[in-house]
Amino acid sequence: MRNFYGRRMGRRLSTAKQDLLQHTLSLIALDPNWVNTSTDIHCANIFLQPRPSTLLEVGFGQGEHLLDFINSHPQWNVVGAEPFINGTAAVLSQLEPQHLNNVRLWSDDINLLLPKFAAQQFDQISVLFPDPWPKLRHHKRRIIQTAFIEQCVRVLKPQGKFIVATDHHDYLQWMIPILKAQSHLAPQFNWNNLPQHKPYSWPTTTFEAKAIAQGRMCHYLSFHKI
Ligand SMILES: C[S@@+](CC[C@H](N)C(=O)[O-])C[C@H]1O[C@@H](n2cnc3c(N)ncnc32)[C@H](O)[C@@H]1O
Repeated sequence: MRNFYGRRMGRRLSTAKQDLLQHTLSLIALDPNWVNTSTDIHCANIFLQPRPSTLLEVGFGQGEHLLDFINSHPQWNVVGAEPFINGTAAVLSQLEPQHLNNVRLWSDDINLLLPKFAAQQFDQISVLFPDPWPKLRHHKRRIIQTAFIEQCVRVLKPQGKFIVATDHHDYLQWMIPILKAQSHLAPQFNWNNLPQHKPYSWPTTTFEAKAIAQGRMCHYLSFHKI
């Protein structure tokens, strides 16, 4: 079921970025019609160059982590999901031509795509600084929900990693019981001492930078699928 309430468009895009969206995106976009037709999508079939490992990044924003991961993990393919079209344009404007073979982008709600994948397709799923939707009546819009986590677990390979970062105290408290209830996710940390450091290095993302600038504490929760 669709569960996306954020913005799809931001500031007016430059002609160069509009051009990228019109021409380059079609080369690497996952087909929106899959929502109605596909089942059991295998990562081996969606990339021109099959590789041993695949990352799914949900809500990549301006793409700081996505782009760095592509450059620093040559043995990985990457699926990025981001309905905010300015973010997709930002990624396309920095993507090296040789990487067009190993990146696929989904410009809609990830909740529509995840159920279409066959089980055990991804080696890592990252959700960095998801929208906190602080008002009580908007909590149902939060991406970290039991159904979403169950889908993530289903599409992760055994020993695959699930990583979520947040700077929002209330959202952190919201996600803890949801994540704890998932018996197939083994935390790589102590629940009594939630990590404030990244599980590996990546360039500060836009929302991570805002949190740091405003003095908010960031937490990085990393799990292995068992
Ligand atoms: C607060 S931003 C964080 C962006 C980036 N990860 C960062 O750290 O700067 C959250 C992003 O998640 C995207 N998002 C929200 N709901 C989503 C969904 N259901 N599927 C895919 N992306 C989603 C939003 O469009 C937004 O760009």
